[in-house]
Amino acid sequence: MNRLGSKSGHLQSVIEIGETDRVFILTGAGISAESGLATFRGAGGLWRNHRIEEVASPQAWRRDPVTVWEFYSQRRRAALAAQPNPGHLALARLEDILGDRLFLCTQNVDDLHERAGSRGAAHMHGELFKSRCDTCDRTPFEDRNTYEPPDGIPHCGCGGWIRPHICWFGEVPFEMDRIARALDECTLFLAVGTSGVVEPAASFAARTRANARTVYIGPEEPTNSYAFAEAYLGKAGELLPGLFHCAGASRRTTG
Ligand code: OAD
Repeated sequence: MNRLGSKSGHLQSVIEIGETDRVFILTGAGISAESGLATFRGAGGLWRNHRIEEVASPQAWRRDPVTVWEFYSQRRRAALAAQPNPGHLALARLEDILGDRLFLCTQNVDDLHERAGSRGAAHMHGELFKSRCDTCDRTPFEDRNTYEPPDGIPHCGCGGWIRPHICWFGEVPFEMDRIARALDECTLFLAVGTSGVVEPAASFAARTRANARTVYIGPEEPTNSYAFAEAYLGKAGELLPGLFHCAGASRRTTG
């Protein structure tokens, strides 16, 4: 893997995007780190000494739904207090320029991409501010409430429990058809701030290597670094603004 950029955030080169390029951007928890939201596997990644797998699974929900709602209530509060950072804003500006030649796919459940101005991001792991019934097929609905003791678990009209609209470990991620098409079509694949541990996203870079230039952006190499041709090592909020030059645009386009 060719390492470009530097930990100090001073870029040594920009990424040229041609007029026919199609760009797939996969983001992970790292892009929201500079907004103050904890990543899963770095320092501070544990919640009350639980690993994420222990509070984000159907088994955890069946065993202890109160603790699961406490966890997501705390995440709702943190996300509501957070603001998009320059990394989110740079990707939204890039989408303004590229239109439907950019496909944004996030593993994050926060809404910081949307609040930065991105439209149509595929939230493969669900959305923090939506809930759904765990029993009936009621459509997932907007929900910014928090559910914590002594209040109980919210109930649906059908009698089932209301759960977070999140893809838990062992469940099938959302929007995989749309994501698969975009992976097949892309000529530039960028992963930002994701450790490359959780499937299926961890395999996206390897899958696109035949059709796309694969680039990683984050402070340290991901676990799946073998799948990337290049890495820009540094913080997303420092590297993404000014990283791209789009053909036809007269200056660095995301600065
Ligand atoms: P991780 O916590 O596994 O990885 C976060 C990555 O962000 C690490 O590689 C860090 O080096 C990097 N990072 C930290 N600060 C950064 C910054 N300022 N700029 C850029 N990168 C930075 O998070 P994910 O890979 O997103 O799933 O985790 C994948 C999934 O695991 C999550 O979506 C979640 C979790 O279980 C579910 O909840 C279903």
